[in-house]
Amino acid sequence: MSGRLAIVAVLLAAACAAPHDGDHMGHTPEHYHHIHHGAEATSHNHEGGDICLTLSQPNANFAFALYKSLSAKVAADKNIFYSPLGIATVLSMLSTGARGDTHSQLFKTLSYSDGQLTQKAVDEAYEHLIHMLGHNQEAQQLELGNAMAVSNELKPLDKFMADIKHYYSSEVFNVDFSNAAEAVVKINEYIAKKTMDKIKDQVKELDPNTMMVLINYVFFRGAWEKPFDAEQTAKKDFQVDENTKVEVDMMKRTGRYEFYQDQDNHTTVIMLPYKGNTSMMIVLPDEGKMKEVEGYISSDYIKHWHDSLFRSSVDLMLPKFSISAESSLGEVLQEMGIVEAFGDKADFSGIIEDAKLKVSKVSHKAVLSVDEKGTEAAASTTIEIMPMSLPDTMELNRPFLVFIVENSTKSILFMGRISNPTAA
Ligand SMILES: *[C@@H]1O[C@H](CO)[C@@H](O)[C@H](O)[C@H]1NC(C)=O
Ligand SMILES: *[C@@H]1O[C@H](CO)[C@@H](O)[C@H](O)[C@H]1NC(C)=O
Ligand SMILES: *[C@@H]1O[C@H](CO)[C@@H](O)[C@H](O)[C@H]1NC(C)=O
Repeated sequence: MSGRLAIVAVLLAAACAAPHDGDHMGHTPEHYHHIHHGAEATSHNHEGGDICLTLSQPNANFAFALYKSLSAKVAADKNIFYSPLGIATVLSMLSTGARGDTHSQLFKTLSYSDGQLTQKAVDEAYEHLIHMLGHNQEAQQLELGNAMAVSNELKPLDKFMADIKHYYSSEVFNVDFSNAAEAVVKINEYIAKKTMDKIKDQVKELDPNTMMVLINYVFFRGAWEKPFDAEQTAKKDFQVDENTKVEVDMMKRTGRYEFYQDQDNHTTVIMLPYKGNTSMMIVLPDEGKMKEVEGYISSDYIKHWHDSLFRSSVDLMLPKFSISAESSLGEVLQEMGIVEAFGDKADFSGIIEDAKLKVSKVSHKAVLSVDEKGTEAAASTTIEIMPMSLPDTMELNRPFLVFIVENSTKSILFMGRISNPTAA
């Protein structure tokens, strides 16, 4: 049976460390609408954050399993950056329509079956998670959204449509896939709008069999709680690997940070908080130890480091950079155990009964930019009382790992390895 119709999943993620000049982070009308959806909001339990935490451990397990698979494929001098939360969300949304082994493989790989979670429990947890993350503040903008472009020839089951709208806040729009060029434009326009033009032309072409495109985007923009002073930024070398050196704009700040040096495990860890509930955790392996750290890193290590952090004076040097990483996840997800969804035995009878669907492609793109900002908000420059001791030094002049984590839901929004901050 070669004539299977295709589902394509497109995942996008953008993270900016800071607002750009003159950008006051205006909320989009959709966003405004979301916050003020009134009656519906009262059905969410703001106090009981527990239901959001349902996903925290499985999503972290999935995030690290994905890192292991990706890093095995990506050369050491190339950056890796993705949104594990975004990828888990879209796969969970897909699983609402999966049945049989197609469903159990999705659940196993997403690490939901360990905790004996049902689809309904997962759906409800996402509903709350998406709601919690939607509470933006002046200084922080975080958008996690889902959408589905569906062929006007396809009539998905009402239950599937209702579930993805209700639990995953998914927007659904019709596309005429028989006109592939136009469909590509329409989907790309949607994505560009949702990511504030950070991600454009994500979809290059579509298989003529495409019936459905699942879209997930995560857009995060935060301002450092402790901005860097641009006057201290200077050109410095960054050692990509033994043979490659690049020049970066190295930002510098001396201040009090949550910091931990794990000598046994050859790493130094620092937390850089954004305003709001989100922080960037940076893990810097000792020189030549990246491979080793990548080999053992897991959510247990992150937890150990997180619990070991203590406030110290640190001379921090962090390159200013903007990177974009694209990954084609089809092969990686199959290696991780999601096999049937991509093949002719795929069972998506929960999406539609009388058509044979399979997933043909999963593409993901994430961008990250990090700069000094916050400095423009001169009024918020923080003056810190420094103890009279020599600060520790942390110079990010060689490959390091980054995690952008949201504290109230304990989610890893983004993670990756910055091997070369100058690679586009
Ligand atoms: C090294 O990592 C292991 C596993 O997380 C942990 O038990 C140990 O305490 C770590 N060493 C230090 C010095 O933190
Ligand atoms: C994270 O959240 C917990 C409770 O949810 C709170 O006690 C803690 O102070 C928060 N940490 C940060 C860095 O915001
Ligand atoms: C931060 O988390 C707390 C709950 O832990 C929540 O009440 C608050 O609204 C969150 N703030 C932002 C900006 O998301």
